[in-house]
Amino acid sequence: MDKPVSPASPSSKTSKKGIFITFEGIEGSGKTTQLDLLYQTLKTKKIPVVKTFEPGGSSHGEKIRDLVIGFSQKKISKLTELFLFLADRTQHVQEIILPTLSKNQIVLCDRFSDSTLTYQGYGRGIDLDLIAKTNLAASFNLVPDLTFFLDLPVLEGLRRVRKRGKLNRMDKETVFFYEKVRKGYLKLAEGEKRIKVLDALQDKKKLQQEIFQQTSKLLSKRFNCSLERLT
Ligand SMILES: Nc1ncnc2c1ncn2[C@@H]1O[C@H](COP(=O)(O)OP(=O)(O)OP(=O)(O)O)[C@@H](O)[C@H]1O
Ligand SMILES: [Mg+2]
Repeated sequence: MDKPVSPASPSSKTSKKGIFITFEGIEGSGKTTQLDLLYQTLKTKKIPVVKTFEPGGSSHGEKIRDLVIGFSQKKISKLTELFLFLADRTQHVQEIILPTLSKNQIVLCDRFSDSTLTYQGYGRGIDLDLIAKTNLAASFNLVPDLTFFLDLPVLEGLRRVRKRGKLNRMDKETVFFYEKVRKGYLKLAEGEKRIKVLDALQDKKKLQQEIFQQTSKLLSKRFNCSLERLT
């Protein structure tokens, strides 16, 4: 019989040379807005960068995204939800993220493993150790180099999302649920230096500057290149 393939094998084959940056936070905290701004800035400065998102960033992702956060009112069990997010991540990391990093590029990702810990762990109450282990297996041990946690009071996040329009399944959780998720993020940030907590009540431009500065610092450390000023 063939030997089983170790869950971490793709990352050992595809050595990580680029920089992996993730954006995290509750609904409406400004993740997509800030990711897009950083993406545009890096593009303007001719830095090779790819933007992507979870769930749904891979070729199979759209179907998984639809199952897990689509507009359906159907109930889904906690563990089914967890494993769908993890399945989505495996495909995404293997197909998009690792190959891009191996080309020395920057990957900006809208949500990643921290979302699973906070929503399915702190939010839904699934065992955190189980999530931590399966997160690593699903992502071939990939951990972001830098994570921006956009921290916002829950009610303000929901206000922004409602103003924006159509709500998906995850947007319809209770305030109590999002409070648990927010606290989860703050807990994670206490133990992880890579997670930068940003006050998402600040205006977009200020946040953009802070995010740019942190990214710039990391780039100069890793690639020995300076990005100079924002504009
Ligand atoms: N700093 C800010 N101040 C005020 N409004 C903001 C700020 N950043 C973003 N917004 C607005 O809030 C809304 C939500 O922003 P955005 O879509 O970037 O959040 P998100 O975290 O990606 O949300 P989701 O989790 O639902 O994808 C948008 O209408 C956006 O224009
Ligand atoms: Mg978004």
